[in-house]
Amino acid sequence: MSDYAIEISNVYKHFGGVKALQNINLNVKRGAIHALIGENGAGKSTLMKILSGIYIKDGGEIKINGKTVHFTNPKQSKEMGIGIIHQELALAPDLSVAENIFLDDLSFGGPFINWKLLNKKAQEALEKLGFHIDPKMRLGDLSVAYQQMVEIAKALAKNVNILILDEPTAVLADPEIDILFENLKKLQASGVTIIYISHRLEELFRISDTITVIKDGATVIELDPKTSTEDDVITNMVGRELQSLYPAKTPCQDIEMLRVSHLNRKNLLNDISLSVNKGEIVGLAGLVGAGRTEVARCIFGIDKFNSGEIYKDGQKLRLNSVVDAMNYGIGLVPESRKEQGAVLSRSILENMTMSSLDKITPFCLIDHTKERQLGE
Ligand SMILES: Nc1ncnc2c1ncn2[C@@H]1O[C@H](COP(=O)(O)OP(=O)(O)OP(=O)(O)O)[C@@H](O)[C@H]1O
Ligand SMILES: [Mg+2]
Repeated sequence: MSDYAIEISNVYKHFGGVKALQNINLNVKRGAIHALIGENGAGKSTLMKILSGIYIKDGGEIKINGKTVHFTNPKQSKEMGIGIIHQELALAPDLSVAENIFLDDLSFGGPFINWKLLNKKAQEALEKLGFHIDPKMRLGDLSVAYQQMVEIAKALAKNVNILILDEPTAVLADPEIDILFENLKKLQASGVTIIYISHRLEELFRISDTITVIKDGATVIELDPKTSTEDDVITNMVGRELQSLYPAKTPCQDIEMLRVSHLNRKNLLNDISLSVNKGEIVGLAGLVGAGRTEVARCIFGIDKFNSGEIYKDGQKLRLNSVVDAMNYGIGLVPESRKEQGAVLSRSILENMTMSSLDKITPFCLIDHTKERQLGE
């Protein structure tokens, strides 16, 4: 049998004029944790969707455990023991956590759903991973990070011998990432082959046996994390030498811009105070569920707080709605962009201008010339 769980050669995939994948070559050793990295749009998710049967490749060859395959639907991929944790959450918000975890086979092969058993199995799947989530909860009532944990539990509740994780940690905090990594190491020890996609370089060096860099739909290089550096990865990823990973910080001014003072929101926020100077970037750190999102939502007028004050430029704000916050010149990029930040069925132009309708509607109707100018 081949030493490789996955062998991909010269695979390509086009979407109309978009050459998402041009020439991908990737060999993943059986039992390895193999990391993929590349800039946004490099083609990582497209390749993983081909491996999981969601997209059909246009050409090239894929072998799984030495056997040539051509998946035309997800079922074929699942039958080969391939499991995937998608970058975009693929869960049903109106179903319970337990139903989501076992959606493929709610009755475990039987004619009826045994709810007690279903919830018990889901509880076990979650506990095995160290995630404390009530399996009976409606999925949509969980925050994105908890939903991500359900997604992980869902993939691992099945017997997989190849597990793909497409940026699983984007919304997780360090302690949850530690738990995830412990579980990945356990899976690896039991013989599972893992493909791990992340933009966080330190994670790749921590967890992976091999790193493959993808750029513009083609593989650039395979690196050994033991003998290469973060700089090597970045240089190959962007195709040129970088002076520094982050741009130099511009010192902020000594003028207070925003002050949050003794903010309280029942059961969620307890005496939160912070101060932000003009031009300053302040990070809010904390565990999932600690209240970071809630602070932001209060500042942006989405949620009411029970006591405390928020000042901007020394002026006390009266925040009764999002419109009030926007009128004070406050903006928010929400945690869950797809649900809360954008209207996916509308155009990019409409999405860009919908928060400034007053600028493009001189007489109650949208002036499309103005709309285009603003968008451009
Ligand atoms: N269904 C689709 N239709 C048309 N173009 C697509 C489709 N899916 C992906 N693309 C395009 O293919 C290219 C590769 O996208 P892909 O999502 O695979 O990148 P990625 O490496 O996963 O990026 P990211 O790091 O942002 O997740 C992009 O240019 C993207 O716009
Ligand atoms: Mg992607």
